[in-house]
Amino acid sequence: MARRALITGITGQDGSYLAEHLLREGYEVWGLVRGQANPRVPRVRRLLQDVRLVRGDLLDQGSLISAVEKAQPDEVYNLGAISFVPMSWEQAELTGEVTGMGVLRVLEAIRVCSGITASRGSSARQIRFYQASSSEMFGQVRETPQTERTPFHPRSPYGVAKAYGHFLTQNYRESYGMFAVSGILFNHESPRRGAEFVTRKVSLGVARIKLGLASELRLGNLEARRDWGFAGDFVRAMHLMLSAAEPEDYVIGTGRTHSVRELVEAAFGAAGLDWERHVVCDSSLHRPAEVDLLCADPKKARTQLGWEPTVSFEDLVAMMVEADLRLLADGRDPEQDNPSWP
Ligand code: NAP
Ligand code: GDD
Repeated sequence: MARRALITGITGQDGSYLAEHLLREGYEVWGLVRGQANPRVPRVRRLLQDVRLVRGDLLDQGSLISAVEKAQPDEVYNLGAISFVPMSWEQAELTGEVTGMGVLRVLEAIRVCSGITASRGSSARQIRFYQASSSEMFGQVRETPQTERTPFHPRSPYGVAKAYGHFLTQNYRESYGMFAVSGILFNHESPRRGAEFVTRKVSLGVARIKLGLASELRLGNLEARRDWGFAGDFVRAMHLMLSAAEPEDYVIGTGRTHSVRELVEAAFGAAGLDWERHVVCDSSLHRPAEVDLLCADPKKARTQLGWEPTVSFEDLVAMMVEADLRLLADGRDPEQDNPSWP
């Protein structure tokens, strides 16, 4: 019988790549969708036709229990979150509820549906759990590169909420013997990335300028450095973690770091443009507290899981710029009508 996976965050970037990957691996895939008229749900229905949808919200414990009862998953991937860091200052409480407490609610749904109690430990049928932890937890980094042992110093309400979810996942593993793991993922991007994140903002900006639809691109801090990889590579790591013999946490990143300035140079260069003629630095886009430098040490994932990234920073940037040039040249809506979805 096919293994069954339930994915929260199915309408997001990673949800789409993970669903495709698990379908290819022969899984029956279920996706949690929220809201009575969520505008992203029709896109999922159209483009991920083999995924079964179940209604639920990370804010609503009962809905998560019902979703687990309905999907009867062998594996749950908790990708749902408020994931845009600047929003976490504007809506700090909501971010705590969704990105932090949401993890507790999913773990509780699994625990209750599996009949696990502190005294009885885990039941015969284990549901494996993956938590989407983040390199934002390292924040003001204590060492470079960052490993599974690097201490956390989050710099945003988002990072703090992710740290809560991370420790809670460890705690459920230790308290109840659950197969619960966190992937500490560094930034990963694709043509399906939300337009609010810097890589996609830049690739869309470049495409608009190249096609004469805009003349400038306003950006914040150009000096921040990130370890950027390709989302399609990173979802493979999630699946490998839940397929491992033992439940362990892993850092997933490329091990290479680039500044936003280098990203901009590469993206404008890919379209034959001079970035200095178009980019405007806007201090209103700076964050109250910045994460200056992220760089992964993915040795543990490489040696224990056999995981390797396959797309370089340069190829990733070129892929995104080319996809957005095609998208805008066809007169499509970058959010609703993205042909880079399957
Ligand atoms: P994304 O594109 O922003 O997707 C976020 C998902 O969360 C969406 O499907 C959204 O659904 C869902 N969501 C938001 N509020 C919810 C709620 N109350 N109940 C249920 N679902 C809700 O994020 P992503 O880039 O795919 O990232 C996936 C996960 O990995 C996130 O947890 C993110 O924090 C984490 N992460 C991402 C990166 C990265 O670089 N991409 C790195 C490290 C960790 P709606 O359509 O309903 O809004
Ligand atoms: N979004 C954005 N917009 N970022 C900008 C801009 C701009 O106009 N100008 C400069 N930046 C800088 C930000 O200050 C930050 O240092 C860097 O670009 C990356 O910003 P984002 O792309 O918004 O991503 P992030 O690093 O804050 O968070 C992403 O990665 C995390 C993993 O490290 C998100 O995907 C998080 O959900 C994820 O956990």
